[in-house]
Amino acid sequence: IGDKIGLTPALGWNSWNAWGLSVDDEKTRVSAREMSQQLAAHGWSYINIDDGWEIDKRLASGKITTNKKFPDMKATTDYVHSLGLKMGIYSSPGPLTCGGYLGSWQHEDDDAQTYADWGIDYLKYDWCSYGEIAPRNPNLAELKKPYSVMGASLNKVNRDILYSFCQYGMGSVWQWGEEIGGNSWRTTGDIVDTWDSMAGIGFNQDKAAPYAGPGHFNDPDMLVVGKVGWGPNLHNSRLTFDEQYTHISLWSLLASPLLIGCDMGRLDRFTLGLLTNDEVIAINQDVLGKGARQHIKNDKYQVWVKELKGGNKAVGLFNMTDQYQTINLSKNDPALQGFTKFKDAWRQQNIVISGNALTAKVAPHGVLLVTVKK
Ligand code: GLA
Repeated sequence: IGDKIGLTPALGWNSWNAWGLSVDDEKTRVSAREMSQQLAAHGWSYINIDDGWEIDKRLASGKITTNKKFPDMKATTDYVHSLGLKMGIYSSPGPLTCGGYLGSWQHEDDDAQTYADWGIDYLKYDWCSYGEIAPRNPNLAELKKPYSVMGASLNKVNRDILYSFCQYGMGSVWQWGEEIGGNSWRTTGDIVDTWDSMAGIGFNQDKAAPYAGPGHFNDPDMLVVGKVGWGPNLHNSRLTFDEQYTHISLWSLLASPLLIGCDMGRLDRFTLGLLTNDEVIAINQDVLGKGARQHIKNDKYQVWVKELKGGNKAVGLFNMTDQYQTINLSKNDPALQGFTKFKDAWRQQNIVISGNALTAKVAPHGVLLVTVKK
């Protein structure tokens, strides 16, 4: 608590959406190598191992260690650090993780110390089997407790570890996550690579938006672009290309952590383009850390507006239908009023407004993402 880390949303990779429980040392190293070569120059830095690294039984000392898929976590972490990147890990406050591996229950100090000894920089802490320890309908104090316990353990060790809560939004965690030391918190259940899942999550984040700020962000779950699969059966994201532009645009407007969930060894050119557009990433990484608010919502489209530093804004015009839509936003609309410069962030081109409105023909389930300046 009080650590000055995670001041802008984390940019990184997490193993889960590609590898599920089959993540291993080699996949982690490949991901780190690819990130350092292809993405790091655009700000990407975290390599986060999700569930599946843990051994079945603690050592006699009470300490946890890795299973055989990770022969030497310290060496893996050193490798990730040698590439200029940061390393993340995963656990649960319960006896078991969601995947049935060992959690940190009653060993929080041991585990925090082990993470620090390995050089870990990020912890995702997933409620899971803590549900069997907690009372049936946990009240707020009971929801906070396991996160405070691990937070205290992390604060005892001599290392800054970004603390990411994963309890799917219970008890409106966005309202109190910051107060108990969270650097980010999942606001929803797990995402999958369909329009219904991605849009159902992303366009439902207005309630949490006011609680985002430097060092504490809402996390509407990981990115489902590139080759995903939750295990060995990888497939290209079932989102259309335009839906993927919407996904990255919305997560950037929301100031969400951007955690790539794909096979990093097979990044295709489209996915690489999605993840390396500096004007889009700048919207996500804006120092004010504001979450976009839902500004207009109707049957056909939505407009979301994020305040940026210097009084600038980012505006997303989203087509919610599966037909082309022409979206008109009046120059007198509060989102645009007083601004003179408009730029299409994806295309990195200025937009000249000739009439009284910003007019955009937006592709099915697609977006026009605009930055506006005085
Ligand atoms: C939960 C989380 C996922 C992932 C898995 C791992 O479902 O929400 O993000 O961490 O557990 O088992």
